[in-house]
Amino acid sequence: MKHADIVNRMTAEEKAAFLSGKSEWESWNFERIGISSIFMSDGPSGIRKQAGEGDHLGLNPSVPATCFPSSATLCNSWDAALMEEVGEGLGREAMAEGVNVLLGPGMNIKRNPLCGRNFEYFSEDPYLTGKLAAAEVRGIQSRGVAACCKHFAVNSQETRRMAMNAVIDERTLREIYLTAFEIAVKESHPRAMMSSYNEVNGVYANENRHLLTDILRKEWGFDGFVVTDWGASNDHVLGVKNGSNLEMPNPGLDSARELLAGVKSGRISQDEVDQRVDELLDVVLELTAEAKKVRQNHDDHDGSVQASCLDKDAIHRDNHRLARKAAAESMVLLKNEDRILPLKSRTRIAIIGDFAFEPRYQGAGSSMVNATKVENIRDLAGGYDLQVVGTARGYRRDGSEDATLIGEAVSLAKQADVVLLFFGLNEQSESEGLDRTHLRIPQNQITLMREIQEANRNTVGIISAGSVIEMPWHSLFKGLLHAYLPGQAGASAMLDVLTGAVNPSGHLGETILNKYEDTPSYSYYPALERNSEYRESVFVGYRYFETADVPVLFPFGYGLSYTTFEYSALQVEESGIRFTLKNTGTRDGAEVVQMYVGMKDSALFRPVRELKGFAKIFLKAGEEKKVSIPFDDKTFRVWNRMTDRWEIEGGTYLISVGSSCQDLRLTCSVEKQGDLERIPYDREKCGCYYKADIRRVSDEAYEEILGYPVPSGSWNQKSLGINDALCQMYYAKSPIARKIYKVLDRKLKKSQAEGGVPDLNTMFQYNMPFRAIAKMTGGLVSMEMVKSIVEMVNGHFFRGMGGVISEFFRNRKENKQYLRKLK
Ligand code: BGC
Repeated sequence: MKHADIVNRMTAEEKAAFLSGKSEWESWNFERIGISSIFMSDGPSGIRKQAGEGDHLGLNPSVPATCFPSSATLCNSWDAALMEEVGEGLGREAMAEGVNVLLGPGMNIKRNPLCGRNFEYFSEDPYLTGKLAAAEVRGIQSRGVAACCKHFAVNSQETRRMAMNAVIDERTLREIYLTAFEIAVKESHPRAMMSSYNEVNGVYANENRHLLTDILRKEWGFDGFVVTDWGASNDHVLGVKNGSNLEMPNPGLDSARELLAGVKSGRISQDEVDQRVDELLDVVLELTAEAKKVRQNHDDHDGSVQASCLDKDAIHRDNHRLARKAAAESMVLLKNEDRILPLKSRTRIAIIGDFAFEPRYQGAGSSMVNATKVENIRDLAGGYDLQVVGTARGYRRDGSEDATLIGEAVSLAKQADVVLLFFGLNEQSESEGLDRTHLRIPQNQITLMREIQEANRNTVGIISAGSVIEMPWHSLFKGLLHAYLPGQAGASAMLDVLTGAVNPSGHLGETILNKYEDTPSYSYYPALERNSEYRESVFVGYRYFETADVPVLFPFGYGLSYTTFEYSALQVEESGIRFTLKNTGTRDGAEVVQMYVGMKDSALFRPVRELKGFAKIFLKAGEEKKVSIPFDDKTFRVWNRMTDRWEIEGGTYLISVGSSCQDLRLTCSVEKQGDLERIPYDREKCGCYYKADIRRVSDEAYEEILGYPVPSGSWNQKSLGINDALCQMYYAKSPIARKIYKVLDRKLKKSQAEGGVPDLNTMFQYNMPFRAIAKMTGGLVSMEMVKSIVEMVNGHFFRGMGGVISEFFRNRKENKQYLRKLK
């Protein structure tokens, strides 16, 4: 133990209390022995520090903070240096707000484009995610604030995220869903990791020894603390035993009592508890000392350079500029026919679209920031070298048709040289807590586009959406700029790119497919009952589309520039590749160069190519540079489930470099010695995987890669348990419970029909399991009370009610007694 001196001075009650939250956002403090609280805030695209009472999903307002572009947006920059700068901006702002842990970056892999939280995540590719997240973590932590990578792991769906189980084979787990976390841990030393709500192969992530202890700590060398997602603790004793340090938010002292009882009964040893206390203490001491140092400096040097560390106005100004730069570097130019962009000097433009008046700039849920200022196109366009002929809203944000708005927009479009049409997904469409049901944008926007195109063929579309949308209407535009969710300074960033003040250099971090039905996990997503079966295995995103030859609209890695680049002279060396890149156009610009690796005649099934390196290279017009991309331990490795280790298959590998996963400019081959001897699969049984034919994988083939029979995930409709979701009360025996279900359901549907920002709290309640009632009520409800509530739901009203009442008084008394011991 690192801090035995302090741990030994703590009482058993203090230790147990220390491992769960004191309030919605704080850990416990014991000033008697020099332990202060740490304060945690979301993350990831800005600081969401609640001003008053904390309430998880943010009913109470949070303090003003810079809203940076969402992670899905920043990912398109493919620029680790930029990510580090953004991380530093976030860290600086967090420190000034007294936040010790920033709950981000969100690093889950985009398994399916419907996931409501994809805007908060980076990519469908683990290498890209890992490298960018690592850079962000380095930036945040350079300011004395801990980053908290989340949600560890395999959290790919929002639907009943607290009551579902990801069934996944070990190779897919390692190669696709864990690699990004591995890169971040090894390359940026995050001080915190958040365990996810779901189960992974039948064990809650927060109790999963394989994930938290064997892989995270032992294999990767993680030495920070593991915190549960808010309400993700199931059995606190099992969590602590298997490697989780801090249960959040605030379960009262019920969890601490569970832990004390666990030690008494032998379910967990005092040594195990002490170990977790020591790990958490290590970070708490470090963070509180850092914060103290910064504040001390501030007091000592008031008005000098150090003082600006805490000068919120100066930080907000700097971060607004940084948010603008980051957004501009991340936007993806998808189309540019007739070189309609950049707009020429004094072009007469019509600005159309509700989003030009009130931008769609961030996603909803725990990441939602109270932005310091939000720019909009209508107010800013006049400041550029353009002639604005007028502005029109064009469509209603809630999706309803409005012929008057269309009429105004069309007559305006006729007067302009170029129409700029701003549109995309509305607030209701993507949010934490819900998965989308389709990938379309509202129909009223499509109606408008058609009418505008009839009126003026020189139309440029500017899209705001945090995740993939179908674009069957793309041919209506000569130019298309995908701004994703660009943060509070998105409007000036858009205008910078449209006018050519910034040459676009964003490339897609995810595939824009033709239609949702093409998605590899289409038949398996989301889990309908308990289990989500990852039958598509490693064929996620472009790994599938490229291998199975499924045409897509814009491939992974794609993005245009106002200049052109030429690749030549590819050489492969032992340590990596080298080639020459030349800017062959007339404008300065940056290219995202991507290295893909595939294997010829592999004895395993594999994606035809996988991203294994990339760089963003800036070149002046006409300039050329030698570029190197190194190989690393991930370039050739595969996970062998038979030997349970990373191995290299000997043979010929194809190394390609290019501007997207389809636009490969140069390719060469390299021979590699290997150490893979035992082929882990019987090809007869899982032949479909060898053809990337994974849309309807049979049980036999799936079992071959899992290594065990497919577990059943059917709900028990006869009787509900504490881990079933509240929406399962649909099946409840108790008529009162069924009534409660109906009320919840009606409330949810009503809020969905109303439009606007989704009702997160209702969504959360609808999908949460009964046990979360105990975990999220600040000590008012104990786990024993929850068990009695479930009895009532199952039709034993009087027994259950009796239990609730007697437990209520016992819990209250014991909480009070415990509190006295902590004073
Ligand atoms: C989210 C986390 C977030 C936490 C605290 C949870 O609902 O899944 O990402 O950090 O709430 O707000």
